[in-house]
Amino acid sequence: MRVRNDVIRQFRFVFIMLFTLLIGVKSVSAEEKVVVWKSPTCGCCEAWVTYLEDEGFNVVSHNIDDVVPIKNRLGLKDPALYSCHTAVVSGYVIEGHVPAMDIRRLLNERPDILGLTAPGMPQLSPGMASIIPKNYDVLSFNEAQQAEVYSRY
Ligand code: CU
Ligand code: CU
Repeated sequence: MRVRNDVIRQFRFVFIMLFTLLIGVKSVSAEEKVVVWKSPTCGCCEAWVTYLEDEGFNVVSHNIDDVVPIKNRLGLKDPALYSCHTAVVSGYVIEGHVPAMDIRRLLNERPDILGLTAPGMPQLSPGMASIIPKNYDVLSFNEAQQAEVYSRY
């Protein structure tokens, strides 16, 4: 009986630890507010917003007809790095169909960059045709608009 109780106690300990861990992970992303600017008529932008919400992010989105002035104001100036929507999370610019895992990694590692971009409209990206990113690169960029590969899918 004593042995059984110990086992139960140990199981309970592990269970509580796992539960705490899960809650912790969840609340880290839920606290991070993602502010998005997008065209009111863009379906893929809306789908990306829904995807981020499903991933636990707190998303606030603004519809505007021309997102380019926002990109420029945020320091994203090279059209080669542009996508459809533009977002900000914790001071970083997130341009286009960037996967949630890259945003989480960014928030954990806090590199000295301006933000991340998935230039253009990658066909197999979250918000486009595939929730699992495939066949495109996510780039990091700095104020000088120098970009390098952040993730390869
Ligand atoms: Cu798009
Ligand atoms: Cu978009």
